[in-house]
Parts: sequence; structure tokens; C-alpha cells
Amino acid sequence: MLLASVNHSLIGRVLEQDLYTDAGVLLLTKTTVLTENHIRMLRMQHIRNVYVSDHGWSEGDGEVISSQLLEMEIDHESVSSYLEAMEDTRRLFEAVQLDNMPKLEAFTEAFQKVAACTEKRMSLFRSLYVLEGADSYTYRHSINVGILSALIARLLKWDEEMVQVMGAAGFLHDIGKMKISKEILLKPDQLTKQEFEEMKKHTIYGYELINGMEGKCETLALCALLHHERLDGSGYPEGRTREEIPIACQVLAVADIFDAICSDRVYKTRTSPFEAAQQLWKLACDGLINIEIVQVFVHYIAQLYVGSRARLSDGDDVEIILIHQDEPMRPLVRRREEFIDLRYHRQLLIEKLIV
Ligand SMILES: [Fe+2]
Repeated sequence: MLLASVNHSLIGRVLEQDLYTDAGVLLLTKTTVLTENHIRMLRMQHIRNVYVSDHGWSEGDGEVISSQLLEMEIDHESVSSYLEAMEDTRRLFEAVQLDNMPKLEAFTEAFQKVAACTEKRMSLFRSLYVLEGADSYTYRHSINVGILSALIARLLKWDEEMVQVMGAAGFLHDIGKMKISKEILLKPDQLTKQEFEEMKKHTIYGYELINGMEGKCETLALCALLHHERLDGSGYPEGRTREEIPIACQVLAVADIFDAICSDRVYKTRTSPFEAAQQLWKLACDGLINIEIVQVFVHYIAQLYVGSRARLSDGDDVEIILIHQDEPMRPLVRRREEFIDLRYHRQLLIEKLIV
């Protein structure tokens, strides 16, 4: 616990004391995660210093992410919403770990908060993939896969009810991991065969957990069970093939793989969304994931980066100018005065986005 002055650097920190006005009215309770609005209110009340936790709410990730988002000139309100959603997610997931099962509604509410915020602000959505900090990986992965699954459903022109279901399905797809031991979940090295067999069970645990929730939904439970199935039968837990995998689960698989490739993992470094798109494309061509879903999604993601700066595999910085329909992951780029069509320079790759 430390005494800190009230300013924006406290966004995402956990309050370690109850706070009252001069008149004795309770303003905020201990364990509140501070947001932009809280900071404003405390200033209005002329409260200059407060006791907060030494670390951000997730071993420092909240603070790290908050400062990165602010540096990217994402507005304070969006940063607060995102951090609050992560905090809600952490709380809900930890409740599952302690066998204190929240209602399904609590998950959908928490997810909708962040979905609303990212849908309005694409700049925040884009920034999800340049954030550092791995401690909160499971929570961030859940939020991101929820956002991506809902987005894909929308791109496929599914009705609004199904879009919402897909958001919740993405948010909850890995909930079964809360039943896997931390030693396996966070192991920095490759898992042994036995550990991997245990890890695979998160699909079955997830299915059971969702079916045990008040307000359960069959699509959500199936997405948790089948998001690691692959069209060629090489997935798990059942080794189902194309026709046996519901389309909702195929959408979720695409969102899950994309986020896993892009995000920091304990065992690998980050990959740019363009490279992730290339990997998705390859998996689709190899017949593992649905190519129609991948095509629509990859084109959309690539479009978001028009105007962004990127680093090529030869070390040069370029600006992304135009996304091609046929090969969205090999755009037209500009290096100083020169235009380069990456479709015709196959040796060059976009390695990293510079935001
Ligand atoms: Fe999973």
C-alpha cells in the first residue's frame, strides 16, 4: 500500500481505503478500481492524496496498459472503460475459480461494457494489439476474442441477436481454463504430453461450467467445447470434422487463433496483425479453418491499418496505402517517395506496426 497524489496515473489502481467527504458522506469504498471519473470526483472534493495498492490490479498490467493507451492519445474515458472491463472480467473469472458461479448475465453485462466502448472507438480496438503486459493475458484474451467474434458475426451479416451471442461466446470460450492449475496455465516452457492433455480439458470444463450457470445458452456452451476443433478433424476434444462443427464455433476458432497469434504469450513474442492474417490465411488454405470467414475478417482487419506506419522485414519504415481484395495481407505501401506493392515483392513482410 502506498500514499499517492490524485492524478491520472492512478487510473486502474486499487483503492486501499474508504473515502469520505468533509461532511462524512461515503464517496468510494476500499477495493474500488480507480477510473477517470473517480479521479475527477476526488479532485472536486479537494482530496489530494489517497492510499492505493502498490501494484496495479493485475500485477502491474493495469498501470502499464493505461499509460500505453494514454501515450497513444486514446481518451481517458475509453482507457477507463477498458480497464474497468478487465477488472470486471478478472473478478468474474476468479469467482469461477473459487466455485462461486456468477450468473451468465453478469458476464454478458461486463462484456457489453467494453464492446460498446471499442465499437465506438476503432482507435482503441486497433491498439489492443500493440499493448504490452502479459500478466492479465487470460482476461485480455477473453475480452479480445469476444470483440472479434461479435465483429466477425457482424461482417457475416448475422442478425443482432446472434452478434450479441457471439460476443458472449468469445468472452466465455476459455472459462474452463479457470479449472486448470496455474502451473500448467502459466508454464513458460512447452507443456509435456501429459500437461497438454490436461490443458485440452479446458474445453470440456468450459462446457460444463456454462451449462451449470443460471441463464445458460447452448451456443455458448458449444463454443467453449468446440473452439479447438479443426475442419480436417485434427482438433480437440472430439476430433470433429467440417459438417460436425457448428458455424458459430468455426467463427470463434478464427477469432481465437487471431488473438493468440497477435497477443503476447508467456512462451512467444508478439506478431503483427498482418503476419497473423497471413498465418490465418495459411491455416484456411490448409483446410483447418473456414476460408470464407477468414477472407471477410482478414480484409476488414487489414483495412483498419491504412494510413498506419509499419516496419518491413528489411528494417525500413513504410506507410500502408492500399489493401488489395485478393491478398489483404500484402498491401501497397509507401517508402519515402517510392510505392511498393508487396504482392510483387514476396521476400518482404510487414513485421511490426508502429502506432
Ligand atoms: Fe481455448
